[in-house]
Amino acid sequence: MTDTRCDVRLLVLGASLGSKSLNNRLAALASRLAEEKGGIVDRAAMSDFACPLYDSDLEEETGVPAGALAFGERLRKADALLLASPEYNASMPGVIKNLIDWVSRLMPQPFNGKQALLPSASPSMVGGNRGLWSLRVPLEHLGMRVYPDMFSLAQAHQAFDGDGGLVNAKLQERLATTLATFMQLVEAARNYGGLKKRWIEFLGERPDPATEREQATTLGAA
Ligand code: FNR
Repeated sequence: MTDTRCDVRLLVLGASLGSKSLNNRLAALASRLAEEKGGIVDRAAMSDFACPLYDSDLEEETGVPAGALAFGERLRKADALLLASPEYNASMPGVIKNLIDWVSRLMPQPFNGKQALLPSASPSMVGGNRGLWSLRVPLEHLGMRVYPDMFSLAQAHQAFDGDGGLVNAKLQERLATTLATFMQLVEAARNYGGLKKRWIEFLGERPDPATEREQATTLGAA
């Protein structure tokens, strides 16, 4: 089953600005493995999406910044987001939360209906896994379908070989299998219109045009 090729479009981002980022290295490896399975990868860097700190006055005066618009545009063209994120203080880094907050102001709201896979890398023993749990909250709130399996690379500072692969072949096989099964789900979801019809920000709230945000879900790349 994991030999199946899937021509799904993936936006791949390492959520770190550091030039020696372990998460960027993991994102690069995941990109290579996804391409080997037929994936079409749009490789992004946080520097592509530079944004000031969210400020409602700034939004009123100048609108959503170019970095967030660029992210929204690239996510719209993708079937799925692969977001390799560091863990900072048992949560997600501020730079990625700030980007999510800005992008969430766009209408149509670009996260809605897209699939996501969350890998992480950290020198610690748990590989930054708590950061990924925290990331699920805003992403799922915004209508993303976040894949249940998360790949958290522990002791990542010692995990890579000279070619960007993992020293431990079994671990790399696990990453490749997780990616392959995720891509099969993305392909299936792209073709299955019954998955999700609408995104409504607060589902159980009394409908009120003054406060509610609601939109139809578009499946797959725009
Ligand atoms: C960290 N780091 C870290 N690691 C971890 O596993 N759990 C944590 O809670 C934290 N907290 C934390 C806070 C701050 C402010 C920094 C700067 C770092 C270590 C972090 O995982 C390590 O620096 C990674 O290498 C960061 O990811 P990139 O930039 O290499 O992708």
